[in-house]
Amino acid sequence: MAILLPGGAGYIGAHTAVELLNSGKEIVIIDNFSNSKKEVLESIKQITGKDFKFYEMDYRDRQKLEKVFEENKIEAVLNFAGYKAVGESVQKPLEYYDNNIYGALVLLETMKKYNVKKFIFSSSATVYGDPEVIPITEECKTGDTTNPYGTTKLFIEQILKDTYNSDNSWDICILRYFNPVGAHESGLIGEEPQGIPNNLMPYIVRVAAGILPELSVFGNDYDTPDGTGVRDYIHVVDLAKGHVLALDKLDKEKQGLYIYNLGTGTGYSVLDMVKSFEKATGKKVAYKIAPRRAGDIAKCYADPKKAREELGWIAEKTLDDMCKDSWNYINKHNS
Ligand code: NAD
Ligand code: UD1
Repeated sequence: MAILLPGGAGYIGAHTAVELLNSGKEIVIIDNFSNSKKEVLESIKQITGKDFKFYEMDYRDRQKLEKVFEENKIEAVLNFAGYKAVGESVQKPLEYYDNNIYGALVLLETMKKYNVKKFIFSSSATVYGDPEVIPITEECKTGDTTNPYGTTKLFIEQILKDTYNSDNSWDICILRYFNPVGAHESGLIGEEPQGIPNNLMPYIVRVAAGILPELSVFGNDYDTPDGTGVRDYIHVVDLAKGHVLALDKLDKEKQGLYIYNLGTGTGYSVLDMVKSFEKATGKKVAYKIAPRRAGDIAKCYADPKKAREELGWIAEKTLDDMCKDSWNYINKHNS
C-alpha cells in the first residue's frame, strides 16, 4: 500500500516525502514541476536511501490520475499540489481557482471512484483572516480571506467538510500551517521561490548572501512589542513530521474530519527574525523600515495544544535551527 503525494517535489511535499520514507511508508509522487525541479527527486532518494515511484503529470489530468490509481495500491493521499503566491493570485485568480480548487475536485472524485478515502490537505493560517483571538485555536472563526489564494484554501476546506458530511466513511485531516521556514539539515532540499521572494525568510537569506541589497521591513507601527509584524515561524521538518502523525491518527481512529493548527505557538517579530538570523549565521542583514504591506495583519500565532494532545506532535526545532538550515540551503544552492 502506498501514500500518494501530488506536489511531492515541492518545498513541503519533499520534506514530508523524506519523513514518510524514513518512517517506513511506501510513497508515489506526482508533480508537473511548475514550481519545483526534477533534481529534488534524487535528493529525496539520497537523504533516505529509499526509492519510490514518480509520475510527471498534471494532477488535474483525470485519465492519467486514474492510471496512477490503477497501477498502484493507494491507501491515502496527501495533497501538496497547487499554486501558493498570494500576490500572483490577485493577478491570476482564474488560474488559482483552476489549479487549486478544480485540482482538488479531480483528486477527490478519483479517490472516490477507487474507494480511497483518506485525505490530508495542506491548508493555511490564512483561513483565519485577521484573527479575533490570539493565540489562534482551531475553533476561531474562519473567512474574510483577502486574496484568491486564501480563498482557495477556505473553499477547499468547505468542500472537504461537505464531502465528509455526505459520506462519513471519508477520513480527512485539514492541517493549517503557520509560517513554514528552514530546510532539511542536509541542505539537499529546501525552498526555492522563483524571482524576488515575497516571504520574509527567503528574503532575509538573499540579503545575507548579497543577492538582494536590503530587506524592507513592512511597517514598524503595529500593535506589537517592537512595532513590526509578529508571526509563528515553523521549521519545515517539524511540519513534515506533523503529516506522518496525522496519517497515523487517520489509521488508528475511527473515520472523521479532523482539523489541526501546525505552528509552534510562539510569535516572533520581523526584527526578532533579523536579529536571530544574524546571531545564528554571523551574517549581517541590512534593512530599512518601509510602509506597511497591504493585507498584512499585526499578529498571527497558533495555539498548538490540539495537535499536541491529539497527534502527540510538538515542534522540536528552534529558531536558531530555522535560520541555520535556511542559510545552509542557500549556500549549497547558490555556489
Ligand atoms: P510548492 O510550490 O513548493 O509545492 C507545490 C508543488 O506542486 C510543486 O512541486 C509544483 O510543481 C506542484 N504542482 C503545482 N501545480 C501542479 C499541478 N497542476 N499538477 C502537478 N503538480 C503541481 O509549495 P509548498 O510550499 O510546498 O506548499 C505545499 C502546499 O502547502 C500548497 O498547497 C500551499 O498552498 C500550502 N501551504 C504552503 C505554505 C508555505 O508557506 N509554503 C503555507 C501554508 C500552506
Ligand atoms: C504570507 C501570506 C499568507 C501565506 C504565507 C505563506 C500575505 C499577506 N500573506 O503570510 O497568505 O499563507 O505567506 O507562508 O502575503 N515582511 C517584511 N518584509 C518582507 C517580507 C515580509 O517585513 O520583505 C514581514 C511581513 O510584513 C510579515 C512577516 O514579515 O509581518 C512575515 O511575512 P511573510 O513571510 O510574507 O508571511 P505572512 O505575511 O505571514
